[in-house]
Amino acid sequence: GGGGAPQAGGGAYPEQNITIVVPFSAGGPTDTVTRMIAEPMAAKLGGKIVVQNVEGAGGTVGAGEVANANPDGYTVLMHHIGMSTAPALYSNLGYKPLESFEMVGLVTEVPMTIVARKDFEPATLQDLVTYVKANSAKVTLANAGVGAASHLCGLLFQTATGVKLQEVPYKGTGPALTDLVGGQVDFMCDQTTNTSGQISAGEIKAYAVTTPERVKSLPDLPTTAEAGLPGMEVSVWHGLYVPKGTPQDVVAKLTDALKTALADQKVVDQMAKLGTAPVKAEDATPEAHKKKLEEQLGVWGKVIADAGVKAQ
Ligand code: MLT
Repeated sequence: GGGGAPQAGGGAYPEQNITIVVPFSAGGPTDTVTRMIAEPMAAKLGGKIVVQNVEGAGGTVGAGEVANANPDGYTVLMHHIGMSTAPALYSNLGYKPLESFEMVGLVTEVPMTIVARKDFEPATLQDLVTYVKANSAKVTLANAGVGAASHLCGLLFQTATGVKLQEVPYKGTGPALTDLVGGQVDFMCDQTTNTSGQISAGEIKAYAVTTPERVKSLPDLPTTAEAGLPGMEVSVWHGLYVPKGTPQDVVAKLTDALKTALADQKVVDQMAKLGTAPVKAEDATPEAHKKKLEEQLGVWGKVIADAGVKAQ
């Protein structure tokens, strides 16, 4: 114990609470996924995990905080696809995705849904496209900040339809969804982990799911391709990170705990209810995670550069 410099050999790890930083608001998709796995991970590690929300700037504030934390395994980051979009969006990001972190493993891949306030006029995705084209000056599109998954999905929607909309940024899907339910914004695109409940309860209207296949938990919801926007496909992969320089045996313990959590039947069931599933065991590894991040940095870096979008 004693804190300070990381010790070689994490034999006794963990000796103190582990903090998993969620770079978005409490009650949002990243928070939901993190809280699902935190307990079974902690049980496997024989320690305690505290979830801390460090929100702002589309997830880049929390990621930056973890990049600069002690590399001792006590500060962990849960981040998603935003890790691969931020470098193209922010010219002075305080971290480099591949260089500032050790990858622990992939966690899950979450479909997104295009959803609206329940009294929003358009009834179908085709209606929505027609409507936003005719009303682009007044339609509002919510997101969780530049760099959020919802921001990326909104960008894909605008690119697919050729319409530029007025975007309303929040610090997470939690507050964005609250305003959508309350009718303060018109529509958004966000993860099934948080939209499923509101869709099923009829508190918001859903147009489509952004994956090639329908989602079992929302069987009536068409895919974007079925509903007329083929090519608008995205799902939100999540991964766990620790600061660069964290001892390899500590990373290995976290990977092992992650694998155990993802195999937990309770986690599998909870995720299924929210339209998602744990990644395959071989993907809950640093190697698979690094490969995914490298590939995704290329994919989204190009999409964002082509769209000419920048933060601020
Ligand atoms: C959240 O946890 O609030 C979301 O993942 C935000 C987003 O990226 O859209």
